[in-house]
Amino acid sequence: MTRQFFVGGNFKLNPITLDAKSSLIDGLNNAQLDPSTEAVIAPPAIYLIPVKQTLRKDIKVAAQNAYFKESGAFTGEVSPKQLVDAGIPYVILGHSERRTLFHEDSALVATKTRAAIDAGLSVIFCIGETLSQREANETDKVCQEQLQAAVDILKEADWSKVVIAYEPVWAIGTGKVATSAQAQEAHADIRTFLGKAVSPAVAESTRIIYGGSVTASNCKELATQKDVDGFLVGGASLKPEFVDIINARK
Ligand code: G3H
Repeated sequence: MTRQFFVGGNFKLNPITLDAKSSLIDGLNNAQLDPSTEAVIAPPAIYLIPVKQTLRKDIKVAAQNAYFKESGAFTGEVSPKQLVDAGIPYVILGHSERRTLFHEDSALVATKTRAAIDAGLSVIFCIGETLSQREANETDKVCQEQLQAAVDILKEADWSKVVIAYEPVWAIGTGKVATSAQAQEAHADIRTFLGKAVSPAVAESTRIIYGGSVTASNCKELATQKDVDGFLVGGASLKPEFVDIINARK
């Protein structure tokens, strides 16, 4: 089966003003984009609604986080139901920055994933190993543990609502991109795991995208790999070259 190529731009905590946001959005609005790629951008929460209102309709908007409760005394949180109400279709969950800086463990990430999917969101579910874990040959083990938590809680959920982002922590924001062979090997292992843990059909149809220092100059080579179904882009999503990354398979 053909999996639709997926490119997400994770703006993280950038930019800090609406003016900068506008020039980013203007650039995307005026660009020629490969219509066969699903393109998604994830601005900071405060910009979700204005970005959605000004962004061309063939690019979707994602939140960078959501809580698992629908409402209540949870200061600072945004719920999946609120995102759906605002017309936001995607949320990024389990990003390594959330896992490390905000102490989100796999159980919490899985609970959030279940809540997001139950509310009607699609989830960009991030996994990946640190450098020391890779050097200890623990890449598969770490990715599988992170995924297993979601597999356990999702049960018969609709896996078409899940995009898995393999983001080796050592490659995030470092300029040290995984080689296409390293990315392909990790993605193939994740797909094999999904086949055993969920089903062969889910393994075949689920998009597994790569994140970590993706740029216009390395994306085409990575995109040739058969199990690399797209990218989650951080730094380069804030630059004009993001258009070239969306068009990596063009
Ligand atoms: O979510 C995106 C990843 O953290 C990759 O970030 O492209 O700046 O390395 P980066």
